[in-house]
Amino acid sequence: MSRKKIVAGNWKMNKTFAEAVALASEIVSSCKKDDAVTKIIFPPFPFLSSISGIVMDRSDFFSGAQNCHTHDSGAYTGEVSALALRSCQAKYVLVGHSERRQYFNEGSELLKAKIDACFRNELIPVYCVGEILSERKEDRHFDVVALQLSEVIAHLTQEQLSRLIIAYEPVWAIGTGETASPAQAQEMHAFIRKVISKLFNPATAAEVPLLYGGSCNPGNAKELFSCPDVDGGLIGGASLKAADFTAIINSF
Ligand code: PGA
Repeated sequence: MSRKKIVAGNWKMNKTFAEAVALASEIVSSCKKDDAVTKIIFPPFPFLSSISGIVMDRSDFFSGAQNCHTHDSGAYTGEVSALALRSCQAKYVLVGHSERRQYFNEGSELLKAKIDACFRNELIPVYCVGEILSERKEDRHFDVVALQLSEVIAHLTQEQLSRLIIAYEPVWAIGTGETASPAQAQEMHAFIRKVISKLFNPATAAEVPLLYGGSCNPGNAKELFSCPDVDGGLIGGASLKAADFTAIINSF
């Protein structure tokens, strides 16, 4: 089994243009080239082309967008299409991040259409799933994640599924400094693989890269990444400092 190892930095709505260029340059120059670990940077939209240019010379670095629209063009003021992202050399798109679900009311139907827009434009979706605190307290976290998966990815072709990346991000761990324990992460990742196996088949499920996200930092990354079903991380806060992000990358 040869699942890809991936570390992705989600910069969210942070950094000015000059700061973003400096950070990306510092990250790239401080990481030794290693094709065994794919590194992705998700900057805010306006910086995408420039960040793509910075990572372009490295076969182990890529850029991606934090969101996309469902349509490829049209009268949707303020939105950005997957087609436009592709033209800025983006390779990946975050779909269904919990902040999009929570603050922009993004639900399964919309997210399904966004995933389709990504595949239509040869972009790889990083589909984010995860429960909120009350759902975990009520022991509903497995049901919630199973539904987030079945409603949004069940319609994909086998070939599309083989390109998809999934990020498990318990919402109670995002930006809170509270991390899921390696045991909690592994338990959910194994469950996600089981759900994909039922929706598709065990062989395909075994190949889908599953990232953990939620207060991942240089101090806890090694333990999280050593879980058998954790194939890397989606990093928020700690991706905004080159030294921390590089240390997380080097945790494999
Ligand atoms: P965090 O964010 O690492 O700051 O918790 C993760 C994310 O939202 O992707």
